[in-house]
Amino acid sequence: MKISASFLSIKDNLKENILVLDQSNIDYLHLDIMDGKFVSNKTWDIETIKKLLTGTNRPKDVHLMVSDVKTYIDDFSTLNPDYITIHFEAVDDIEEMINYIKSKHIKVGLSIKPNTDIVSIIPYLSLIDLVLIMSVEPGKGGQDFIESASSKINILKELRDENNYYHYVIEVDGGINDETINLCRNADIIVVGSYITKSDNYNEQINKLK
Ligand code: DX5
Ligand code: ZN
Repeated sequence: MKISASFLSIKDNLKENILVLDQSNIDYLHLDIMDGKFVSNKTWDIETIKKLLTGTNRPKDVHLMVSDVKTYIDDFSTLNPDYITIHFEAVDDIEEMINYIKSKHIKVGLSIKPNTDIVSIIPYLSLIDLVLIMSVEPGKGGQDFIESASSKINILKELRDENNYYHYVIEVDGGINDETINLCRNADIIVVGSYITKSDNYNEQINKLK
């Protein structure tokens, strides 16, 4: 199981603490990009992100919680991230956006909010590289894990095991700590924010999860 660390909840010395996080025992840096439209919060634009991430080396896992998906794909593909994940609920033509990200030679993630059923994304499972199951309502860090995410993870694993042409990795995001991680055992990547970044010893928290 890999860890994708979100720095959304880091309050002070953000640039310095992102470097500390980047050098800790994580597999990806998770970028929570919000536009204040798809979700009420607004986070960093691409110019700010480029300054914040100067000196980081971990592969990037971009989570777009935005309405104008194409513009943000253009902006954030310039980081050469490993993944760009878009929300099912934000896009009219899903296949067009999947192909648009693929045209930039970046792996495609599709995310669903807690109230969106797995059935909605079944038509796309053979086209994507990652499914991001939200275990909190997108928009902010430090929320409680929504347990229905666990059954979505398990269903996705079963579907992948039964259909050998499915190659997506299963990622879960929100409210993950040393207890709720036990509900995510079938996930390939867990996104962890505040459980790691609220402490002053990131590796200590990460080791509790590993
Ligand atoms: C919420 C973000 C999550 C969040 C995770 O909209 O997508 O990545 O930052 O943070 P924690 O682990 O604090 O729930
Ligand atoms: Zn996220």
